[in-house]
Amino acid sequence: SSIRRLDFLNLHISNCSSLTCLLLSGVGGASELAFLKEPSDVIAVRDRPLMLDCQVEGEGPISITWRQNGVPVATGVKATVLGNGTLLIRNFSKRRESNETDAGEYDCAAQNRYGMLISRKARVQLASLPKFLSHPESVAVDEGGVARLTCQVNGIPEANITWQRDRQHLSTEDPRYTLLPNGVLQITGVRRTDGGLFRCVASNIANTRYSHEAQLSVTGSRIYQEPAILSGPQNLTINIHQTAILECIATGNPRPIVSWSRLDGRSIGVEGIQVLGTGNLMISDATLQHSGVYVCSANRPGSRSRRTALGRLVVQAPPEFVQWPQSVSRPAGGSAVFSCTASGVPEPHLIWLKNGKLLTPSGNVKLTNGNT
Ligand SMILES: *[C@@H]1O[C@H](CO)[C@@H](O)[C@H](O)[C@H]1NC(C)=O
Ligand SMILES: *[C@@H]1O[C@H](CO)[C@@H](O)[C@H](O)[C@H]1NC(C)=O
Ligand SMILES: *[C@@H]1O[C@H](CO)[C@@H](O)[C@H](O)[C@H]1NC(C)=O
Ligand SMILES: *[C@@H]1O[C@H](CO)[C@@H](O)[C@H](O)[C@H]1NC(C)=O
Ligand SMILES: *[C@@H]1O[C@H](CO)[C@@H](O)[C@H](O)[C@H]1NC(C)=O
Repeated sequence: SSIRRLDFLNLHISNCSSLTCLLLSGVGGASELAFLKEPSDVIAVRDRPLMLDCQVEGEGPISITWRQNGVPVATGVKATVLGNGTLLIRNFSKRRESNETDAGEYDCAAQNRYGMLISRKARVQLASLPKFLSHPESVAVDEGGVARLTCQVNGIPEANITWQRDRQHLSTEDPRYTLLPNGVLQITGVRRTDGGLFRCVASNIANTRYSHEAQLSVTGSRIYQEPAILSGPQNLTINIHQTAILECIATGNPRPIVSWSRLDGRSIGVEGIQVLGTGNLMISDATLQHSGVYVCSANRPGSRSRRTALGRLVVQAPPEFVQWPQSVSRPAGGSAVFSCTASGVPEPHLIWLKNGKLLTPSGNVKLTNGNT
């Protein structure tokens, strides 16, 4: 339809040669090349098939090609491009014949007779569960005190961590037990019956692993103890809408009261804010306004004796386009201006591509205003 419309315009616009108008008819109108679906970041499982989507619309014929780390993907028995543009890797390998892996950054290119579009880069990672980075360590705690056990593992995707005591699954229904998703187990008001051998169990789609065991011994009852922060908040960077958990667990006798504030004096608010266990702060559906330095204070009841610990929370926002370049038709010798702006935290970096190739300013091409 856009060709018909331009043919009609040809009859009326004298300074537009029919060749120029035909070349430009591909940009503008419903038939222009555009992605309906770009490949998304995925975690692949070894020896299983993997599909990456690339759906485009536009005037045919359109050819779809795929690249891994910028190198064309060899298609054959192991990898095929399906009729709808999807790349199928039949048997995802950690290593191919040589030292290559199927993991990496993939993009697809769509080309028709007017030009070429390159998709976003999809990050494809192999699911894995490496050995524990740290194992729980044995502790001795006074009756009525606080115990904290921790283990660390870097799984892809993130491992689900549960705990065992004396090789039995540890139920965390007891409100004295708090299990944080990053592999921290907190036990408050420790009793003699809490003692035993603890280990953590990490599992994800790739594997299940058991940590070393650590002993929790419960010693005599407690005497007066100044408040102290056993573990304060870590600096944390999350994306908008994710959940942040800032840890704070304090010891002392009598048991200190844990409270939270912001270093800048602003209110923490109430919406989406919860206290997990005895003092951990959970912020659900984080917004940019939640970025800041958080202060955990442990106070001895009825006194001014207190300890504090700080942690910085950074909430990031992935880039989003505010303004897209619009297709234009221009006579030869004229100027065309394309505008593009994006928002995000930190500030997004913009690049321009022409037919899939990085556009660098030269001769008659000018980038202005920080590439916007
Ligand atoms: C996938 O590859 C692995 C290792 O190269 C091999 O053991 C397995 O049989 C293959 N599976 C299929 C379905 O081809
Ligand atoms: C493409 O085709 C494959 C095989 O028919 C199908 O499994 C997949 O969902 C299709 N992808 C899209 C985006 O339609
Ligand atoms: C494979 O390893 C060799 C040497 O060990 C190296 O020269 C080559 O670049 C590697 N290939 C890839 C695709 O990483
Ligand atoms: C983690 O494991 C527990 C116990 O097997 C299970 O109930 C829970 O649904 C799992 N959570 C996730 C996120 O997989
Ligand atoms: C958190 O970040 C601040 C700077 O913003 C730094 O001074 C501090 O040491 C960091 N704390 C931890 C536990 O890494």
